[in-house]
Amino acid sequence: MQNQGLNLVQHLVRRAEYTPPSFDILSTQLWFSLDVKTTTVRAALKIQRRSPEARDAIVLHGEQLVLKSIKIDGRTLDQPEYRLDEQFLVIDNFPSQAVLETECEIDPASNFAFTGLYLSNGNFFTQCEAEGFRRITYFADRPDVMSRFKVYLEAPRQEYPVLLSNGNLLDHGELASRPGWHWAQWDDPFPKPSYLFALVAGRFVVTEQTITKASGAPALLQVWVEPGNESKTQHAMDSLINAIRWDERRFGLELDLERFMIVASADFNMGAMENKGLNIFNTKYVFANPKIATDADFEGVEAVVGHEYFHNWTGNRVTCRDWFQLTLKEGLTVFRDQEFTADLLADQASNPTLARSARAVKRIDDVRVLRASQFTEDAGPMAHPIRPDEYSEINNFYTVTVYEKGAEVIRMLQTLLGQEGFRKGMDLYFARHDGQAVTCDDFVAAMADANTYDLGVFKRWYSQAGTPILNVAWRYLEPTHNADLGTLEVHFKQELPLGKPPGLPLMIPISLGALDSNGQDLLAENTLYSLADHEATVSFPMRSKPVALSVLRNFSAPVLLRQEIDTLGLSFLAKHDTDPFNRWDAVQQLAILAVQAEYVQLQPTRAMPDAEAASCAQAACLALNGAMHIALDQPSLDRAYLATLLTLPSEGFIGEQIDALDPTLLRRARNRVLQSLAQSLWGQLLKAYQACSTKQTYKANPSEVGRRALRNICLSYLSQLSESALSLIDQPAISPSQLAERQFAESDNMTERWGALSAVIHHATETRSKLLAVFEAEFQDEALVIDKWFSAQATSQVPSSADHKTVLDTVLALMQRPDFSLKNPNRARAVVHSFCQMNPAEFHRADGSGYRFWERMVWELDQSNPQIAARLARALDRWKKFAPHLGGQMRQSLERLADQDKLSGDVREVINKALAA
Ligand code: TRP
Ligand code: ZN
Repeated sequence: MQNQGLNLVQHLVRRAEYTPPSFDILSTQLWFSLDVKTTTVRAALKIQRRSPEARDAIVLHGEQLVLKSIKIDGRTLDQPEYRLDEQFLVIDNFPSQAVLETECEIDPASNFAFTGLYLSNGNFFTQCEAEGFRRITYFADRPDVMSRFKVYLEAPRQEYPVLLSNGNLLDHGELASRPGWHWAQWDDPFPKPSYLFALVAGRFVVTEQTITKASGAPALLQVWVEPGNESKTQHAMDSLINAIRWDERRFGLELDLERFMIVASADFNMGAMENKGLNIFNTKYVFANPKIATDADFEGVEAVVGHEYFHNWTGNRVTCRDWFQLTLKEGLTVFRDQEFTADLLADQASNPTLARSARAVKRIDDVRVLRASQFTEDAGPMAHPIRPDEYSEINNFYTVTVYEKGAEVIRMLQTLLGQEGFRKGMDLYFARHDGQAVTCDDFVAAMADANTYDLGVFKRWYSQAGTPILNVAWRYLEPTHNADLGTLEVHFKQELPLGKPPGLPLMIPISLGALDSNGQDLLAENTLYSLADHEATVSFPMRSKPVALSVLRNFSAPVLLRQEIDTLGLSFLAKHDTDPFNRWDAVQQLAILAVQAEYVQLQPTRAMPDAEAASCAQAACLALNGAMHIALDQPSLDRAYLATLLTLPSEGFIGEQIDALDPTLLRRARNRVLQSLAQSLWGQLLKAYQACSTKQTYKANPSEVGRRALRNICLSYLSQLSESALSLIDQPAISPSQLAERQFAESDNMTERWGALSAVIHHATETRSKLLAVFEAEFQDEALVIDKWFSAQATSQVPSSADHKTVLDTVLALMQRPDFSLKNPNRARAVVHSFCQMNPAEFHRADGSGYRFWERMVWELDQSNPQIAARLARALDRWKKFAPHLGGQMRQSLERLADQDKLSGDVREVINKALAA
């Protein structure tokens, strides 16, 4: 490997090397003359040095810009008064205060990285976070330089009737000098960092509504979409209004603008972007109506609309000093959007019990993501603290760790301080830092000071990577002769698996329950213990010996729990735990045991004798079966909650807990458990399915969402049964594939139709082909629904055609279709990322075909869109965890890719880290 040395040289940015900017940009005026091939950007920056006597050179960022002219206070500069390279503009002898004027040309039409100014369906959009503004004009493109922006846009009126930017519309009109052109001028009253700049120009239609803010002032809310999509915007608008109301109520935070806009873009690298007053969204998180969006999609829109809106305070009014502080805004804002969704769900519930289980369902969804993605990341070569210490490419650090684990850290603060104490901390944070660019330390200090609470140990969560393991053991000491209470003694011990030297102990809030044989709680409600040392023993007075402890209720800390508990104990919790989260988790644990036991049996060489392995598997399966049987028989259970109880952990999450993993075997093991459940619970599942099959017009309320979720999960179980298995059961009048066909045909909403398609997608049947064909024909003009159609096939366990030997053959065929394009991020993700990251058994085929496909795709995507390529590159992160016959090939693929020149810094960083593991 000749150029290996070169590959390994990557510039690292270090947190410890932060230096404040040497100058401020007091105001920023921008003039855009919009053109597809050559857009002209003029900028006037009022620059002021922080130390007036200094005369060192000033440095501005700029990439892929063609500089046409440069002036200081009206005087044109000539080289060598300024210098340019690929990344910087350097100006010597800059005065203590001056106006710098530049004129640049940029080429939006060839921008497929979707960062900076780009085109989507002929419309102009910008994406500036984290470092995209430097592709628009020369600027101090760092979040601690905040400036007042005024923006002037001009463009042909015909093609670009709508011209938008941040803040308030000052004025607009026809361009006298250029017939057919018009202009608009926008003014953002709030100083902001460049990453929050945005402009949009093109053909859009608007859904708008004026609301009255808590203070009584009006605000105009707008959702802009391309014509033809008007019928998909109402839910986004409703979500925005709910978000505004929620932030007023829960945090006393009001919208600070007269106008708030959301615009949808069909080409977007991420979910959405919180640009001040002009949020730009992936269409996936705006478009929703019952015909095209599932209930999960509806919830996604609500969460992301909320998320971006909440950034207006947590991110925009108070922003980050540098990108190492990213979790300051992202962790906090994810936490806020999670609470928003949970509160809305609970508000709609008809009684406190239902409200509690609705909150639990949301919590379970979030923890599922955390465990499946973040725990994996934290155990692999990309592991980093929520506040990283170094990076090569910041785009690679928009991770589940920064976002979801970051949100867990904020949640622990709320758990420790209480909701009121947390609110006091938030109030102090805004009182101190409104209008500033600050650090995670500042946030924690506000929380600590507002509550006079020592968060010194707690703060280690910000600097230590890896998922801690919490070991729990307990015993009960009977009452001595003169006392009527005995003692529960619990021993906690934390382990930090990562780090050399190993990390210091973290502060872990542990919510605890203890159940007697009737399922009654022996501890006071909300018993919380904060572990702050390596280990501790805690005693609780208690009237009788508990049957089981319920540890880490509502998942009070992002840790891996290890407790001495057997199948019986888990079965007890799965039936009786009064904490709905932990009841669900007990079922999950049983499911993992059952799948692992099957897995052991399938292994060619195994540690256990056959008979022992078989009886082990049988016991675990039986316990799981019992837990589900009881839940299905419990009429008081909320249906949404029951649906989550019935959902097995993903292959990804179970796989994390198996060494020398072979995903093909894991899939077979998991399928066996599914089939055995389907077989033994057949009667109950069918009954529940039928009870959920009431035909009524679509409603979006939680009870109906729960009904549809339960209906779909029951159908997916029933569809597990082959004809031969069916013939063993009391013959049902109607076969599962007929049920699926009927559900698909008779439902008026995407949730149930998608449920039907998903239920049949893993079996090569006529029903499968038929439903796929109808689905395609019916939704050919709905890009987001066609994305679903693509991803259903890419994640399927079987190919789509008898001519295809493997699912990869199907994927390759899908990519030949005229409606496939690697350049559109949503479509690429629907096929390529779905296959490589969500279809482990097919991706990790022993012949290595998946890995070679991955190599080609990472390279090809990297030529146009490094961010999307780098996400895909992470599919081989965990090569060390796989069985040697797979891991070795994965490593070879990584090495071959590393050997390519012309790789972006984004992909290079991911590959190098994986290889260094
Ligand atoms: N700040 C965005 C959010 O709400 C994330 C984001 C959107 C982003 N687009 C991006 C990050 C492009 C990096 C690059 O979470
Ligand atoms: Zn965000």
